[in-house]
Amino acid sequence: METKKLLMIPGPTPVSRSIQDQMGRETVAFSDANFVNDFNYCLKELKKIVKSDGEIFVISGSGTLAMEMSLANVLRKGDNLLIISHGYFGDRFVDIAKNKGINVDVLSSEWGKTVPIDLIRETLKKKPYRAITVTHVDTSTGVKADIKSIGDMLKEFPEIIYIVDGVCATAGEEEYMDDMNIHILFTASQKAFGVAPGLLILWANEKALRARESIGTIGEYFVDFNNWLPIMHEPSKYFATPSVNLIWALKESIRLINEEGIENRFKRHELFARAYQKALEELGFRILAEEGYRANTLSNVLYPEGVEDELFRTSLATEGVQVAAGLGTFKGKMFRIGHMGNIDKHDLISSIASIERTLYKFNIDKLSIGLNIIQRELVK
Ligand SMILES: Cc1ncc(COP(=O)(O)O)c(C=O)c1O
Repeated sequence: METKKLLMIPGPTPVSRSIQDQMGRETVAFSDANFVNDFNYCLKELKKIVKSDGEIFVISGSGTLAMEMSLANVLRKGDNLLIISHGYFGDRFVDIAKNKGINVDVLSSEWGKTVPIDLIRETLKKKPYRAITVTHVDTSTGVKADIKSIGDMLKEFPEIIYIVDGVCATAGEEEYMDDMNIHILFTASQKAFGVAPGLLILWANEKALRARESIGTIGEYFVDFNNWLPIMHEPSKYFATPSVNLIWALKESIRLINEEGIENRFKRHELFARAYQKALEELGFRILAEEGYRANTLSNVLYPEGVEDELFRTSLATEGVQVAAGLGTFKGKMFRIGHMGNIDKHDLISSIASIERTLYKFNIDKLSIGLNIIQRELVK
């Protein structure tokens, strides 16, 4: 009999039964009164989750489309944009912005480290930047940016629009738009919300909306705030067909978040990450992200001597856990494991056990050592 396979890649994350059930419902018209109610509920609750009193957009698409949407609505060709990059997804902003003819400056950290805030401040003083992007958790490195301190520092530059990529963070890491002085925040359904891929969620506050107004007509159609605002105010109207079943799935995910309480959810993510990372270190792995800047949503894990990447990941999959490969220069040297969204203690413990059995196949006998650690951390 084949072992059950846990989906522990950093997105898509496991989709709970009750969320799956919503995707299996008979689809209705987007103007159906009950569906419109459900969509309105999602929009209202999503604003509360990140404490935003601005606008919200829930649109079919993935995180990359949200990245494009965030830039397209506030920057014109020739505007200056500062990108803070802690890895592959920070760099993706560079490609998107350059395609649009935006003037890009990039502050990149060595993978695993962060860009110092003082350096960001000094760079912002050098020219009139219209916006800055920060990736809250870069999935390629597992580094978490200090978005609150950056937001505080940005109060010295009141004209700059602060865009935060929350794809690998929102609903798993603390993220409050107003408290953190964030003007645009976005995520996608397949990460810490634990919904299947296919929806982007983007919040824009008043400053971002004013910036949208100030640039007039834009080249993009599908991601133009102005095309979606009437729909987000009255979801029975049509601009482009909403993903009815995914919106129901999102509603169930929001119900689960509210039932847990967002603060408790953050605490759970923190506890799980600490326990998981400690167990992995005890098993001989190293965590790429420097201490103090480690994400709670995923771990980027460097192999001990003698463990070959592809063989490890395929053996681990037969032992019941699917993880993702390293990216960039860390391809072949590390694996990435998600611990975000609707996962529980069973998932954590059985995945550590699978990792131990896989190591055993590499003649590394650490059976029960990681389990001992994670069990003790989880009962604290
Ligand atoms: C931090 C971050 N930003 C953006 C993206 C792109 O999202 P998508 O793959 O949904 O287009 C990802 C994807 O993993 C991500 O982790």
